Amino acid sequence: MADDKKVKIRPKGKIKPAKKPEKKVRFVMKQRDQKREFPFSDDDFLTLSDMIHQKTGIVLKNHKKDMVYGRLSRRLRKLGIQSFSDYLLFLSSEKGEAEVGSLINAITTNLTRFFREPHHFVHLSEKALPEILENIKTGRQDRLRIWSAGCSSGEEPYSIAMALEEALVAHDMLGIDARILATDLDTNMLQRGRNGDYLKNHFDNLPEKYKIFIKQAEDREDCYHVLDDLRRYIAFKQLNLLSEWPMKGLFDVIFCRNVMIYFDNDDKIQLTQRLINQLRPGGFLMIGHSETILNNIDGLELIGRTIYRKKQ
Ligand SMILES: C[S@@+](CC[C@H](N)C(=O)[O-])C[C@H]1O[C@@H](n2cnc3c(N)ncnc32)[C@H](O)[C@@H]1O
Repeated sequence: MADDKKVKIRPKGKIKPAKKPEKKVRFVMKQRDQKREFPFSDDDFLTLSDMIHQKTGIVLKNHKKDMVYGRLSRRLRKLGIQSFSDYLLFLSSEKGEAEVGSLINAITTNLTRFFREPHHFVHLSEKALPEILENIKTGRQDRLRIWSAGCSSGEEPYSIAMALEEALVAHDMLGIDARILATDLDTNMLQRGRNGDYLKNHFDNLPEKYKIFIKQAEDREDCYHVLDDLRRYIAFKQLNLLSEWPMKGLFDVIFCRNVMIYFDNDDKIQLTQRLINQLRPGGFLMIGHSETILNNIDGLELIGRTIYRKKQ
């Protein structure tokens, strides 16, 4: 697994030269640039968005320029850098190598919540887990593996762990080899996931029956902590979904939700194929509500709203 401090860069060619923006756009941008604390030309934006695309797969179209400025100006201020062209020079220098991780952490969109898109968890509890546990009971498989790919700050893998613990108790199978792999590119989010501390209002969507898995923090009234009983199932690791994956074993269920939405079609198709390869036959793939599997990829069957199953 990759070192948490370093972001793995997918092996692609050199950064493409910046494209010439349309004249009309350039004029509008220039007007706005005059009010900005840090000069940020269209060429700077294009170079930066190409770099981000190569390192993360995230596509940043022209209308994201203000968003990128907003997210990165804090970095420039912190580093005492005066303009985006100087920031680009710094990124490509030896000294600036470590900054690439901070750039990526600043650019990723990490929105998530407990039991987001609840129908996936209904399917997990009512269909996937009972079936996998039955396979284990009858000796058809010997372990259970779930992957939360693009787990952000941990709410998704913890929601999975709650459903898992509930199922293991119900089937009297607490001792089995059951693990959840939670991966993301963003090291800040992974650290939050490992800590397992969340503000009280983050648990607003938590079904009442699962409140037994959290407890109020000793030193803060507005903060809750996920119990170690759940945390022991989960390994948080940094992984770029577009780089090589070190995992050898297959997964029973993969959650890859609201991640591909930021990628271009080629990367979406490639990633989907790799996710299928990483599923055991009969395994389940959950994707985000606004995502679709492109190109009618063979080997997957749609069995519910944004729920796919690998053909046996
Ligand atoms: C919007 S969050 C989705 C979180 C969770 N899956 C959910 O649906 O609630 C998208 C996550 O994908 C991660 N991400 C973006 N590009 C990635 C890449 N190339 N490899 C791994 N993770 C990536 C981001 O860091 C972010 O935490």
